[in-house]
Amino acid sequence: MTQDELKQNVAQAAIEYVVPDTIIGVGTGSTANFFIDELAKIKGTIEGAVASSEATAERLKSHGIPVFDLNSVAEISVYIDGADEADAGLNLIKGGGGALTREKIVLAVADKFVCIADDSKKVNVLGKFPLPIEVIPMARSYVAREIVKRFGGEPVLRDGFITDNGNLILDVHALEITDPVSMENELNSIVGIVTNGLFAARPADIFLCGTANGVETLTAK
Ligand code: 5RP
Repeated sequence: MTQDELKQNVAQAAIEYVVPDTIIGVGTGSTANFFIDELAKIKGTIEGAVASSEATAERLKSHGIPVFDLNSVAEISVYIDGADEADAGLNLIKGGGGALTREKIVLAVADKFVCIADDSKKVNVLGKFPLPIEVIPMARSYVAREIVKRFGGEPVLRDGFITDNGNLILDVHALEITDPVSMENELNSIVGIVTNGLFAARPADIFLCGTANGVETLTAK
């Protein structure tokens, strides 16, 4: 089975978690795109969606799915999104597509988080995938120095990339993240960081993991 087929399978499986007559949150990336295409088939059953990026908003709209501004929405029944890495506690690294800030904001409003990914994203310890950090442009060098001082690792500026919020991304290589909650919280305390790509204080509730033998439904261990 190809990686795209695994993504397609988890996208289909995620449809079961869509709550009828509600507004749902939709993530960003290739797996989320497969999900949006599946969602289009049942679009009449939901009120609409809040998008975690401009790209996702465009794709939802292209299917005729109503897109709501988060400021006009008080409740999101479920947030469905991909990930770059997931550990056994369903702590995640996200932000490979650079949408981490809006993803975390939409997730904050959602009742439930369903992560969809193929099994290549499952790891014992987070950090092989470089940790994305969205930074205010003028703070870029300061934040990079602070990260090295506090955690080690090798921050690399994502070349030519500007987020939907007009900021930069530092991708931090060579980290071994054994305590993701404390690292997420400490990163949040560094001035100039808008958002870090650790989703551990609020991990996924369910991980639909695409394997060659079918979709596994994982909860935190
Ligand atoms: C975007 C993300 C994505 O969920 C993550 O990068 C996974 O993407 P893909 O489904 O293409 O592998 O966090 O900011």
